[in-house]
Amino acid sequence: MSSDKIIVTGGCGYLGSHTAVALINAGFNVVVIDDLRNSRADVLDGIARITGTRPEFVHCDCTDAATMAHAFDTHRDAVGVIHFAALKAVGESVAQPVLYYRNNLNALINVIDMMARYNIPNIVFSSSATVYGEPDILPVTEETPLQPATSPYGQTKVIGENIIRDFVRANENMHAVLLRYFNPIGAHPSAEIGELPNGVPNNLLPYLTQVAAGIRDHLNVFGDDYPTADGFCVRDYIDVNDLAAAHVAAVQYMIKTKKPIDVFNLGTGRGVSVMELINAFGRATGINIKYEIAPRRAGDVPEIWSNADRANKILGWRAETPLDETLANAWRWQTRVGKIIK
Ligand code: WQD
Repeated sequence: MSSDKIIVTGGCGYLGSHTAVALINAGFNVVVIDDLRNSRADVLDGIARITGTRPEFVHCDCTDAATMAHAFDTHRDAVGVIHFAALKAVGESVAQPVLYYRNNLNALINVIDMMARYNIPNIVFSSSATVYGEPDILPVTEETPLQPATSPYGQTKVIGENIIRDFVRANENMHAVLLRYFNPIGAHPSAEIGELPNGVPNNLLPYLTQVAAGIRDHLNVFGDDYPTADGFCVRDYIDVNDLAAAHVAAVQYMIKTKKPIDVFNLGTGRGVSVMELINAFGRATGINIKYEIAPRRAGDVPEIWSNADRANKILGWRAETPLDETLANAWRWQTRVGKIIK
């Protein structure tokens, strides 16, 4: 079993913690860097309860070059970095663009600076389907032209991808994989880790599970008059555990092939509408969600879903978790999380 060390920035977060579990279970030695601005240190205990191993933790803000230098100096034996640490609230990024550009770009630049300084040759970059904007043709492949981002958050992903392309072009011993996530949802089946949204959830499923738990009165469904099959927006909802497995496959691929750069869509290849998700949640949990039709939300694209064949062909990975299992995991986590957050 490989004991290669991987640094996971944002490893106490939703995607980072599930990826840390998958990496540890695959035999990697994981070091988590997180500033706990949008996450909690006790997530590390959840990772330990699942895997039997508590990752080493460095409380560090990736935008702080001095503490990052100390963290990477300590872990200069790492073979790679998975960089999740970023601000990711689309609406907040529209209201505070400079905060998003400063935070997300400085964090990434510090990470690649440290990789070059300590010759850590591999980076997996947490990108997003938002780089495709409102695609003309569906499903979306990695060759689908990028469109101007619809938010500063999305722009930081487009710019981040370009920074990494230039970085590996200038450093032939550096390799990168860009992973474009569609809509990650769900929680670990153990209910030991899951999504911990701050305040009112922006995203559909965490809001929906809070309605199911009686924390919110009803779900506002943002628009029922879209040019889609049932009038509701369509997305590609991918189980967070499947997404985590893709990161392990990406790291193994980079270590093996040493290709300069590659990009993969991480989705299921299926589009699901808001109403289909509400109904699927009801079938999976027996809970009918109270909802009201509300005005459209600015910035929402009518429909987007992936063609994820490239990740299957090259990484040998495919999203496999059935939607009802994902939704049951999300509900199990919601019923538990209320007992965790004091
Ligand atoms: C999904 C659908 C909403 C909430 C965003 C970011 C993306 C990534 C994932 C960070 C839409 C509808 C939602 C609600 C609703 N973020 N909805 N009522 O917007 O596809 O993607 O989150 O990595 O970059 O853009 O996800 O879950 O917010 O919305 O009707 O209370 O659910 O209109 O159609 P989205 P979402």
